[in-house]
Amino acid sequence: MVERIKTLEIEALAALNRAKTLADVDSVQVRYLGRSGLLTELIKNLKNLPPEEKPNFGKVLNETKVKLEAAVKEKKQLFQERNTEQKLKAEIIDITLPGEGVKRGKLHPITSTMEELVGIFSRMGFSIAEGPDIETDYYNFEALNIPKFHPSRDMWSTLWITEDTLLRTHTSPVQIRVMEKKKPPLAVIAPGRVYRRDADVTHSTVFHQLEGLLVDTDVTFGDLKGTLTAFLHAVFGKDKKVRFRPSYFPFTEPSAEVDVECVMCGGSGCRVCSGTGWLEILGSGMVDPNVFKHVNYDPEKYTGFAFGLGVERIAMLKYGIDDIRLFFENDLRFLRQF
Ligand code: DAH
Repeated sequence: MVERIKTLEIEALAALNRAKTLADVDSVQVRYLGRSGLLTELIKNLKNLPPEEKPNFGKVLNETKVKLEAAVKEKKQLFQERNTEQKLKAEIIDITLPGEGVKRGKLHPITSTMEELVGIFSRMGFSIAEGPDIETDYYNFEALNIPKFHPSRDMWSTLWITEDTLLRTHTSPVQIRVMEKKKPPLAVIAPGRVYRRDADVTHSTVFHQLEGLLVDTDVTFGDLKGTLTAFLHAVFGKDKKVRFRPSYFPFTEPSAEVDVECVMCGGSGCRVCSGTGWLEILGSGMVDPNVFKHVNYDPEKYTGFAFGLGVERIAMLKYGIDDIRLFFENDLRFLRQF
């Protein structure tokens, strides 16, 4: 019997020695010390032995059990430590590596151009007004001295919604909405989206305009010239020549288009200015008395000037962009350049 116990002990210790993993140790533990392990069975059998043999065998069995348990524990600890070490090595973090950095969003070039233009007029004392994108015939045309069936309506390729509602073709209707609510003196700008049935490299169905309106007693064409010249110098540089050219708009009389010396060629003539040396930037004029009549302003008492410009056109000239569609394609390779 003692012989058997010793053999078991040697086998068990040898098996522990061969163990290469924690699992190996576990299976040795189960095989010898488990609930029906080889040593456990011998201990259970103790009660069947003759009483005089019990003490001796009991002692030997117990000693062996304690020894094996200690050996198992030691091996387990060894493997556990090794596992932890390996895990730490695998999960090592190199805190000297550069971080990933958070990418910051940027303003769209149209937004930042609009903000710049609005900023210039704000500093001159103009306040900001807004109107709806969906307009009525009255605000978009009628009140601006563009009667139904008048040929001047052809100046705007209109997107109609119903017979009386449309997507505003310009920001000029905001002039009417402002004057309906407020008496002179006033100086407002109206930035916003406008819509036209138009699409090519320089025209987009949706684009942005900045409208301006100033009304007071004794406003002259000289005020218009001074204000718009200062504005264009702020945008394109003080060294740029500016010229006022007679034109026609139904809501202004007299009307003028405002050109700036070509920013691409400096006035010598190139593809961008079609060889003229000038870039057309603004529509403007003195508010037509017929417009004042629609908002119950006395044309004998008040005069004013108005202007409108395309924001995309200014952004294209500022950044040297030759295709308006780039602004609306949301291609990050394009947008990240600003
Ligand atoms: N509304 C005009 C357009 O979209 C631009 C314009 C011209 C606005 C002259 C004005 C103005 O206020 O006085 O073509």
